[in-house]
Amino acid sequence: MPQTTRLVFGLGSLHHLFSPRARFGLIAAAAEAGLTRFDVAPAYGNGLAEHELGRALRVLRLRTFAVHTKVGIPVAIYPRVAATYAFPAVRLLDVARGGLRSGFARRTFDPDALRESLHGSLRRLGLDRVQRFFLHEPIRPFETGEYGAVVETMERLIRDGKIVEWGIAGPQRKYRGPALLGIPVVQQPLDEWLALPPRERSPGATLYGLNRAWRAGGAGESFPRYVRILAEANPAVQFLVSTNDRARVAPLAGAVP
Ligand SMILES: NC(=O)c1ccc[n+]([C@@H]2O[C@H](COP(=O)([O-])OP(=O)(O)OC[C@H]3O[C@@H](n4cnc5c(N)ncnc54)[C@H](OP(=O)(O)O)[C@@H]3O)[C@@H](O)[C@H]2O)c1
Repeated sequence: MPQTTRLVFGLGSLHHLFSPRARFGLIAAAAEAGLTRFDVAPAYGNGLAEHELGRALRVLRLRTFAVHTKVGIPVAIYPRVAATYAFPAVRLLDVARGGLRSGFARRTFDPDALRESLHGSLRRLGLDRVQRFFLHEPIRPFETGEYGAVVETMERLIRDGKIVEWGIAGPQRKYRGPALLGIPVVQQPLDEWLALPPRERSPGATLYGLNRAWRAGGAGESFPRYVRILAEANPAVQFLVSTNDRARVAPLAGAVP
């Protein structure tokens, strides 16, 4: 299958699939359909998405692929056993202890946290480098010194060959348009991007929340057709798509050649 570079396959819900076999099958189906850009984060299944993507990449031996991951939501990474059938039990315990809630309520973007988080992601993925490294949904604007340290660290990681690009992923309203701040790569909700004045839209943004927008609009046409229309109307952007249903993967991949 030809690879599509305008669609990124999101693995934010991979941990909702119960078995390692089903998770591998979904990633393999995406790769088979030409979806070889993958979006993960340490926070997705507390390491599980990165771990399972790494395993699949080793088995599938793809010649071309790209991995986008993130940093900043300080969840506890589950032990390797959680990537087996043990995930629901480990998650239940974590939720009961309040670990998940407290992780998602905080953010850490200091230089050491950036480096350590990336190191952990690369280890779980079994890679030397990722294509994109995003600040994951900051919950307040950065102070000047803090932002300077982020930029310096990210540029160092690029020079060291650990990442190719960096950016910010999440709702951007509070930053008054990242294009104005000069953040290199932006991943944000589709509805928010559409509502921005064109001069504040980051060129080359990656947009998520497509399915929510499709449903909000009445889900008139099929979802793959909605994605196609959107892609034709906005040729400079990339889109995140996601499904846990293997049968839906190929029609989605075919929506944007
Ligand atoms: N801060 C961030 O950067 C951020 C935030 C949110 C998400 N993300 C990334 O973006 C990815 C996508 O997240 P999203 O929130 O944008 O989700 P989405 O793509 O808007 O929606 C996913 C939903 O679409 C459904 N779906 C897929 N194909 C369909 C079809 N043909 N017909 C009907 N329903 C269909 C899926 O259901 P089934 O599974 O049942 O098919 C799933 O419930 C995530 O996995 C994650 O990687 C990033």
